[in-house]
Amino acid sequence: METAEIVVSLNTLLANYQVFYNKLRNFHWNIEGPDFFELHEEFENEYNTVKENIDVVAERIRVFGVKSNFTFKKTLELSKIKEQEKEISALEMVRELLHDYEILHDRMLDAVNASLETGDVVTENMITGFMTELEKRHWMFTSFLK
Ligand SMILES: [Fe+2]
Repeated sequence: METAEIVVSLNTLLANYQVFYNKLRNFHWNIEGPDFFELHEEFENEYNTVKENIDVVAERIRVFGVKSNFTFKKTLELSKIKEQEKEISALEMVRELLHDYEILHDRMLDAVNASLETGDVVTENMITGFMTELEKRHWMFTSFLK
């Protein structure tokens, strides 16, 4: 089975997820304003989900016999999701999260396509599970902004 492409797409997803995880922790800590209690909690829910998915992706890469050597440097190079450096408002945090969701969704689609090409239904199933949850959360955070 040709797994190289799947591993590349999983590594890319992993890097994006790791930067996203770190951003969410910062959002959780730094949020201010009338939505504090709600979003402080939701950002925590979000990074806990991401933390679990990160582990699932990394261990799937190990199943293919590839070792992870994820330094911060390499992670930032591979990730299209960028760190949030300047201070932003609570609503801007949600908009940023939605923007990052779209990047993650694209990376997930790449992984699904790579899986389908080789008939790897296990990776495909794993990623489509993430996508189902991501799309639901996208709807929720979009509704929050209306
Ligand atoms: Fe906390």
